[in-house]
This record gives sequence, structure tokens and C-alpha cells, in this order.
Amino acid sequence: MRTVGKIILVLLLLIVVVAGAGLAYLFFAFPNVPVAEYKIEPTPERLARGKYLNDHVVGCTTCHTQRDFTKYSGPVKPELLGAGGEPFNLGPAGVLYSKNITPAAIGSWSDGELLRAVTAGVSKDGTPLFPLMPYPHYGVMQEDDIHAVLAYIRSLRAIENNNIKERELSFPLNLIVRTMPAPAAPQVRPSPDDKVAYGRYMTRSALCADCHTPIDDRGTPLPGRDFSGGNEFIETGYRVLSANITPDADTGIGSWTEQQFIDKFKGFENTPPKDLGEAERRQNTVMPITAYAGMTREDLSAIYAYLRTLKPVVNRVNKCPDAK
Ligand code: HEC
Ligand code: HEC
Repeated sequence: MRTVGKIILVLLLLIVVVAGAGLAYLFFAFPNVPVAEYKIEPTPERLARGKYLNDHVVGCTTCHTQRDFTKYSGPVKPELLGAGGEPFNLGPAGVLYSKNITPAAIGSWSDGELLRAVTAGVSKDGTPLFPLMPYPHYGVMQEDDIHAVLAYIRSLRAIENNNIKERELSFPLNLIVRTMPAPAAPQVRPSPDDKVAYGRYMTRSALCADCHTPIDDRGTPLPGRDFSGGNEFIETGYRVLSANITPDADTGIGSWTEQQFIDKFKGFENTPPKDLGEAERRQNTVMPITAYAGMTREDLSAIYAYLRTLKPVVNRVNKCPDAK
């Protein structure tokens, strides 16, 4: 009996030691992405390209600004552009808050530090970022596109914001997050002549899958369900579920012509988002379609071409279950 007790005690001790060593390793070894030296010159071409990409494609300031969901599609509050503080609900996994990315907060960061945060997911102080901040996508964009965006972000008006809450990640995600950052692996942007490949690059840069591909409760995409929708959002104040945008004719957008697809976006260009009444707010959307509306027809057309090549998935979504 006594020997059995001793063995159990030793085993328990061993478990504690191994777990402790594992934790220590996790904290000392991760995240492991060094800062590279960079100097990004804000040339007029870079600033123009960066503004286009930010405003209509990659959406830095769409997430890093408080949104106004009393209006259709929750346009950002322009007077708070880039000042952060917008919440992102991860369900049982926790909640994130976007950070201040105006020069008031990142003005002291080197270009290398900024690049590492945005393309590899490690903040200036070494904190690993959760990949809802889409660094896995930005890390595979062509380098001059990312440099352009960062040059533009640096040109935002400085706004102080000391009211941003700390993120909450539940166990074990608060530990796993340390292993998520990974060095950027920039790719070449395909030529627009290669329409489907170029469309894939734009779709990825515009983060369409982040809302339209269903995920499990750890944020991992469900296999075989790419772009089939059903992801639930509550940021508008009501539930809204993303649409199925695979080419399934019945439950996706298989029956949409290219013209209908482009018009769906372009219809919101140059029209100020309208104030919504109570009934309309129940059908509001988190999709920043008024921002995407400024994409060129060529870019939207390429996205459409890429989406046509996806596997059709049958999934009927009730987009606004709280509608009355
Ligand atoms: C889908 C929403 C979203 C988009 C789009 C987005 N971010 Fe973020 N970003 C976040 C969130 C949320 C955090 C905080 C993550 C965390 O706490 O783990 C963050 C963190 C950051 C940080 C770290 C700041 C700090 O103080 O640690 C930087 C820098 C940053 N983002 C810059 C950018 C830039 C530049 C872009 C565009 C290229 C961008 N973000 C696009 C949501 C987003
Ligand atoms: C922040 C989350 C989010 C992002 C990012 C997003 N969407 Fe959506 N999308 C939604 C939601 C939610 C809906 C359903 C409500 C609505 O119609 O807006 C939707 C609806 C749509 C619809 C309408 C489909 C229908 O059946 O009516 C299309 C088309 C669409 N999205 C395409 C895209 C494309 C293309 C992108 C990338 C350029 C994209 N979405 C990015 C959340 C998102």
C-alpha cells in the first residue's frame, strides 16, 4: 500500500514538473519571430495604393475604429479613425478589442516592429496577437502592398485612446495563442490577366473567408465548408449570419450573374449609409459593404471569378433570425 502511495506521489510530482517545464518553454520560446530592419518611405504612390487597400480591401481602419450600427453596415466613426476599441466576440473563447493604430499609439514603433505585428502577429512588446487580427492573410500578401498600407496607416491623424479594454481569452486558448504567430511568407500578387489567381489574392486580402467560412469553437475552419456561411455575429446588437457565397444555385450565389454581384457592392458607392429604424436594425449587417463598394469593378469582377471556382456547398442560411 505504502509503495503504491509513493509511486502515485512521484508520478504526480513528475506531472507537475513536466507541466511546469512545458509552460516555461511555452513562455520563453514563443512567440518566436525576430524584428527585421525596415524603412518604408511614404511615397505618393505608396500612400495612394495604401489608402485604396485600407479603405476598400484589407480594412485596417474598419476593425480599428468604433463602428456605428445605427446606420446600414456599421460605417466607422470618422472622427475616431484608427483609434481602436471595437469589440470582437469569440463566443466561449473570449473577446478581443482592436488597438489604437494611430500615430498616438504606434508612432514610436519602428517599421520593422509594425511589419512584424501586422504580418507575423507579434506586438512591439512581444505579446502574441490572436489571428482574428488577420496577420496570416497579410503575411502572404505581396510586400509592396503591405508596405503601402503601413505607409498610409502612419499618415492617420493621431488620436489618444486610453479606454481600450484588455482581451479575454479562455483556457487553453490563452496558452495556445503563443504558438500562433509565424514569420511572414510574402507571395507575388498574380497578374490581373490571370483572373482567378488574382481574384483569389484579392478575396484573401479582403478577408471574405474570415466571415463566410464556418469555424469550430477554436477558430479552425471546418473542412469542406469553405465560404458556405452561417457564421454568427452579434456586433450589430442583433444576430446576423453570414451568407453562403459558394456557387450552389439554390442556397449560395450560383444563380447570380457577374453584373448582379458587382452591382450589389457598387450600389453603396457614394451613398452615405442611411440611419436605420428599429425594424431595419434587426436586419443590419456586419459586412462592411459600404467600404467594399469603393473597390474597382476589375477587382470585384476578379473576386466573382474566383468565387465561381469554389466547390458548391449546400447550406441554407437564415441571415437575420431576429428580424420582425
Ligand atoms: C478583422 C479585424 C481586424 C483587421 C481587418 C485588422 N486588425 Fe489589427 N487588430 C485587430 C485586433 C482585434 C487586434 C488585437 C488582437 C489581440 O489582442 O490579440 C489587432 C491588433 C493589431 C496591432 C497590434 C497593436 C498593439 O498595440 O499590440 C496592430 C499594429 C494592428 N492590429 C494593425 C493592423 C493593420 C495595419 C491592419 C490592416 C493591414 C489591421 N490591423 C487589420 C483586428 C483587426
Ligand atoms: C465582417 C464579416 C464579413 C466580411 C469580412 C464579408 N462578409 Fe459578406 N456577408 C456577411 C454577412 C453577415 C452577410 C449576411 C448579411 C448581409 O446580407 O449582409 C454577408 C452577405 C454577403 C453577400 C450577400 C449574399 C446573399 O445571399 O444575399 C455577398 C455576395 C457577400 N457577403 C460577399 C462577400 C465578399 C465577396 C466578401 C469579401 C470581399 C465578404 N462578403 C466579406 C459578413 C461578411
